[in-house]
Amino acid sequence: MKLLYIDACVRAQSRSKILADYLLTGLCAQTTCTTTEVILPQLNLQPLNEQTLQHRTSMIAQNHFDDAMFALAKDFAAADLIVIVAPYWDLSFPSLLKLYIEHINVAKLVFRYGADGRPVSLCRAQKLCYITTKGGYNPDDFGYDYIKYLAHNFYQIPSVHLIKAEGLDIIGNDVDAILQQTKSEIDALITSLI
Ligand SMILES: Cc1cc2nc3c(=O)[nH]c(=O)nc-3n(C[C@H](O)[C@H](O)[C@H](O)COP(=O)(O)O)c2cc1C
Repeated sequence: MKLLYIDACVRAQSRSKILADYLLTGLCAQTTCTTTEVILPQLNLQPLNEQTLQHRTSMIAQNHFDDAMFALAKDFAAADLIVIVAPYWDLSFPSLLKLYIEHINVAKLVFRYGADGRPVSLCRAQKLCYITTKGGYNPDDFGYDYIKYLAHNFYQIPSVHLIKAEGLDIIGNDVDAILQQTKSEIDALITSLI
């Protein structure tokens, strides 16, 4: 299985990453994984600007996809399973992840437009798992909801799973116990991701 691991965790002591690493270890113990890691804090991705957007648009129009700028999109389209890990920031996720999405959403590589103007997926993945941790308890997660919407509507990934641990910054909460409980939920999920 080709596993794409997208890491948007900023802190060295990230609890979200602890959970994601637990999932990856469990997955790769149960099936043969070829893992591609995308560690977003290390990539120095820049927002598309007028110049880079024009360049990209021109390359796409000419079907020139050899440029290194398309490497992330190719990896995304080729994966069987996509795991995204991101902390819950400001009701969503760190902007690093939005930058990544900007870079991978390449027409003709990740999706194409159908005759009715709607996106048609060019991605192989049928499953995506999103892992997050939150300081408090908040029913709204515009980050996960956005990823889920993209997965269903752009990438046509039918099976989207959420793993979350909440209340980690609330004084008096037993963080280790919360993480342990979430690890049990991960154990239960693993077989359905393979
Ligand atoms: C910039 C920033 C924004 C945050 N925004 C929220 C928030 O809107 N709601 C919330 O419950 N916690 C918020 N938190 C707390 C984090 O969600 C929480 O500490 C989480 O576990 C961090 O994940 P990590 O340990 O993987 O870095 C925020 C933390 C930071 C640093």
